[in-house]
Amino acid sequence: MIDYALTDDQVMIRDLARKITEEKIIPARAELDEQEVFPSDILNIMAQSDLMGLYIPEEYGGFGGGVFEFCLATEEFSKGCIGVSVSFAANALGSGPILMFGSEEQKKKYLPDIAAGKKWAAFGLTEPNAGSDAGGVQTTAVLDGNEYVLNGTKQWITNGGEADVYTVVAITDKNKGSRGASMFIVEKDTPGFSFGKKEKKMGIRCSATRELIFEDCRIPKENLIGKEGMGFLITMKNLDKSRPGIAAQGVGLAQGALDYAVKYSKERQQFGKPIIAIQAVQFMLADMATQTEAARALLYSVARSIDSGIKDYTKESAMVKLFATDVAMRVAVDAVQVMGGYGYMREYPLEKMMRDAKILQIYEGTNQIQRGVVGSKLVKEAISRK
Ligand code: CAA
Repeated sequence: MIDYALTDDQVMIRDLARKITEEKIIPARAELDEQEVFPSDILNIMAQSDLMGLYIPEEYGGFGGGVFEFCLATEEFSKGCIGVSVSFAANALGSGPILMFGSEEQKKKYLPDIAAGKKWAAFGLTEPNAGSDAGGVQTTAVLDGNEYVLNGTKQWITNGGEADVYTVVAITDKNKGSRGASMFIVEKDTPGFSFGKKEKKMGIRCSATRELIFEDCRIPKENLIGKEGMGFLITMKNLDKSRPGIAAQGVGLAQGALDYAVKYSKERQQFGKPIIAIQAVQFMLADMATQTEAARALLYSVARSIDSGIKDYTKESAMVKLFATDVAMRVAVDAVQVMGGYGYMREYPLEKMMRDAKILQIYEGTNQIQRGVVGSKLVKEAISRK
């Protein structure tokens, strides 16, 4: 692996996350997948290890790290199971709007509990008719006195039902399209706020994916984040910051699959020798290792660049999300291939990794959407150079 010159703090975070992965996630992952059980015990261990608030400033009880530290931990957890790591990472996506655009009161009220792992967070954007088209949200929020009244349904919300704090996009002005969207904080147990069934998924089966249902759900008007009409901008900025975390899931999953395939290839004997001595297998492993390292190098560069304070990283964030998650899918498929028939068996972890990898190319914006984001930035850059 390339020497990325990690600081002492970063090495500590990586090693702590690695220990949790080896001791808690890997031994439990097959059963969590089989039983589709939400990994609350493991999230509580992460909280006890002070990893839940890695990206939250110290003044709100966090570690004060950035996207880089968050990605380091996510990568390690993802070597074990991305069902677990996305349950961890969804807290950052859910709390992102508060962190980036919340008032001082909102930050003080919500961030310390999220940093301590006393409360979990989730982000409510997607709807039955608003998937790739994030501007097509139909949930409404109408101001009535000192309260907003929410009506509508959110779909496929990660940590839905498990989280305590939800940042939710709703339309406050139907005539303005996506510019009529606003962002709200909704707490679990608010009357009029309920959850649909837990979805049954191909992979990441231990993660909770549920509908959020709002029926005349009244929330204090102080729960508006920023101003009315800022919902789409906050959403896009939140996704820009969060997509490297999905790339980190991809890098971690790819590394986990590669490590397992290498270990297996050293032990598996065919034609009188370990299959790692066969050039056809070596070439596959070499490509898997090269692609994984390239994805990691891009991820670390993008994360460091974001943390350096640059303002616009939409293109880079989309690039790393699409690259690292396409790598994860390819590596997972090839890792199964290296194991042959054993790779297809549920007794071994690679078939789960292959099922899990697929969602990385879909959530937080499909990789086709990411290519569209990169492409439109290239067009804008070309026009501005004229
Ligand atoms: N930063 C700042 N401003 C932005 C922006 C960004 N990243 N992206 C767009 N904008 C601005 C544009 O500049 C434009 O402003 P003007 O009107 O002033 O020119 C405005 O917003 C509208 O932009 P677009 O015309 O580009 O918007 P669009 O409707 O065509 O959609 C899109 C753009 C990129 C396709 C967006 O809809 C998108 O990202 N879709 C994917 C949705 C997504 O990622 N969903 C994931 C759900 S969360 C999840 O999956 C979490 C989980 O479970 C783990």
